[in-house]
Amino acid sequence: MLLTGGQVSMAISSTIVFTFTSLLFLSGYVLQQKTVHSLQAAIKPRLPKPLPAPTPETVPLNLNVKWARPVGSRPGSDADFEQYISEQNIDWSRLGYVQLVKEHVEVCSAMMLFGDLYRLKSPAKRVLLFPRAWLEDATGKVVDPYLGTSRRLLRMAARRYGVVLMPMEPIIEGADSSLPSSYSLASLFSLIDYERIIHLSSPGLLLDSSPLDSLLAFSKSEPVAGLPASAERRELLTSLLLIHPSVENYSRLRKLRLTQPMTDLDLFRKSFPVPDSLLSAWSMSLGNLFYESTWLRNSIEGFNSTIFTEATAYVHLSDPELPGPEYDVPYYDRVRIRPKNEEARVVWEKLYETFRQRRMEICGLDLETWNSPVLQAETIMDESEVVAEEGRVAGEIVQHAQNL
Ligand SMILES: *[C@@H]1O[C@H](CO)[C@@H](O)[C@H](O)[C@H]1NC(C)=O
Ligand SMILES: *[C@@H]1O[C@H](CO)[C@@H](O)[C@H](O)[C@H]1NC(C)=O
Repeated sequence: MLLTGGQVSMAISSTIVFTFTSLLFLSGYVLQQKTVHSLQAAIKPRLPKPLPAPTPETVPLNLNVKWARPVGSRPGSDADFEQYISEQNIDWSRLGYVQLVKEHVEVCSAMMLFGDLYRLKSPAKRVLLFPRAWLEDATGKVVDPYLGTSRRLLRMAARRYGVVLMPMEPIIEGADSSLPSSYSLASLFSLIDYERIIHLSSPGLLLDSSPLDSLLAFSKSEPVAGLPASAERRELLTSLLLIHPSVENYSRLRKLRLTQPMTDLDLFRKSFPVPDSLLSAWSMSLGNLFYESTWLRNSIEGFNSTIFTEATAYVHLSDPELPGPEYDVPYYDRVRIRPKNEEARVVWEKLYETFRQRRMEICGLDLETWNSPVLQAETIMDESEVVAEEGRVAGEIVQHAQNL
């Protein structure tokens, strides 16, 4: 085949472009590997010693098993690590922790996470997405006391913890803005001023922010990186999400969501296929980035609470039988489900108790009253009683907020 002069020079220039692209890619890759290696070296001292663990089949994301092998002595100190971080040229203004609240009961938990990030001196931005409808004036209607509390908490979040408040719209245009189900985690993708953001399922407690800060700072920007649902890494979970926001994926998610109602989990699974959407092995090596309180029930003999606490970044307080740590659960209901292993039980009870205390400290809120399902079935209140009860609870919340 004969080539004209034009085609030859085209071929040559595309070869040159290809070569340079490859070189650029390679140098980037080498740099990244170097960063990862020195980071791993820097992070190593944080890895704990043996941590016996729950059975892997029931607790796929638990890294305890991995840590059951001994790790060498601490080669460096935390100060080395902090210096290492400060030497990296990281633009923290483009990295953030984002919480998304769909209903009033979630606001305090988001505040508590921001409070923990502030206390632990995380350098990343803090952003709160909340329904824009909460800003609209409810003139003419009975003023919702929960709304009043939420507004006060939002203002406090901004003032005390420097939280950026971002009103959001329902994920489908025209949907009822007062329904939590009208909002979606897909809205995280609208935050395109940020290069990478982390979203954590709440309520929970942040024990150590540095592994999550490292994840934010040193990860490659992927559309989504989440925890795998099992050791086989076949499905994504939305409990911890590292996201690179983009207009493209924001509108892609909204379009898909418009076709039929679905949960955020389904929406994310349909939109971001595994394994590309899963956190890398490197990320997972940073520690127990995300831990479910209910896994403590699988703890085996020799569980060491000191090591557990040091190795865990965030604990999601979630046990299937309980309504959440915001609710006051009768003692006997808790005793029934708490971990059998004594040391794990102490950790479990301390987590719930710490949550209760911090909720009071940060939001000025007591635990909500909760009727166990059995009780609820037995107690049939008539309409007026229910209204009176709701009014009383709401009144108490307002009272607390005003006392702050
Ligand atoms: C959006 O997500 C898809 C699927 O993961 C990915 O291929 C694409 O690059 C993403 N777009 C942007 C702009 O990040
Ligand atoms: C737990 O681990 C810590 C630190 O390694 C150690 O000092 C402590 O003795 C251990 N506790 C138990 C009960 O083994």
